Amino acid sequence: MSSNRLAPGRLGTLRQLEIFMKVAETRSISRAAEALFLSHSAVSIQVQKLATAVGLPLHEVVGKQLHLTAAGEAVLQTGREMLAAAERLDDRLGALKGLTAGHFRISVVTTAKYFLPRLLGPFCRQYPGIDVEFLVGNRQQICDRLDRNLDDLYIFSDPPEEADITAHRLLPNPLVVIASRHHPLSGSRRLRWSQLAGEKFLMREPGSGTRNAVERHLREHGLRLGRTMVIESNEAIKFAVMENMGIAILSAYALVNAAREGLVQLPVEGFPLMTHWSVVQPRSKRLSLVAGKFLEFVHERGSEVLPMQEIEQHVRRAYGRQR
Ligand code: PGA
Repeated sequence: MSSNRLAPGRLGTLRQLEIFMKVAETRSISRAAEALFLSHSAVSIQVQKLATAVGLPLHEVVGKQLHLTAAGEAVLQTGREMLAAAERLDDRLGALKGLTAGHFRISVVTTAKYFLPRLLGPFCRQYPGIDVEFLVGNRQQICDRLDRNLDDLYIFSDPPEEADITAHRLLPNPLVVIASRHHPLSGSRRLRWSQLAGEKFLMREPGSGTRNAVERHLREHGLRLGRTMVIESNEAIKFAVMENMGIAILSAYALVNAAREGLVQLPVEGFPLMTHWSVVQPRSKRLSLVAGKFLEFVHERGSEVLPMQEIEQHVRRAYGRQR
């Protein structure tokens, strides 16, 4: 008999459950296989074996889209509870070992990935036995993860208002207008929004927090965008701006090397748009010891290790005045 069998003939094995949960999370056998470094057929066979053990199909594919059946949802729910129990055990063991071991998972919006390593670096040096999983997505993807209670902590620049969360404010996230240094407006000292009417804007995809902030600003001020083109990543947008394909609005944190990359900030009236990053924890979830330690570290050392002044200076320089 396999040593990790859960309930003979009922729930398969822990490994099958783990594989199924990755399929449920990614809604795709191929993506789960990729994430778990397994072949497509290995994932498919294990999910099938689990379904046979349970006695009901766990998923179905409708129009190329993978959906969980009611049995699949029930198995997923139980899997999460088991995972939470395993994390609590990890936590207790970590406490017994004096935080020399443990694990926590943090999911962050794409703009936060530029500064999170500044926090994680010194934290991991202080607690070398702790493993951190660091996931990145756009705002909508991180909201979905929060909804599904997949991580210990989250970083948003615009935390979802309707969610049952505690948000710890971290630092400002200024959104600035950028252009190639060869753009005709690049030497301007001050620009009105109307002067950008003929420009093409390279915009993030729907679901992006950056895009939401821009759209909110336009709505509130009755402004319009000229032509737009959607590009799904901050880096790809920067490359496109360098090629003078258009101008863009991005977090100043994505632009720390802007000058070297041939990019300039345009001093447009009403900008930078100020949003604020917050570390978010689900109110209903007991924070693990390790995640709690990280939060404590953020409060105590955040202002010392985060590059707030650098960013302030970049923005100030672009506008040529004290902000
Ligand atoms: P995003 O980043 O644009 O990748 O969603 C979010 C944010 O800064 O709110």
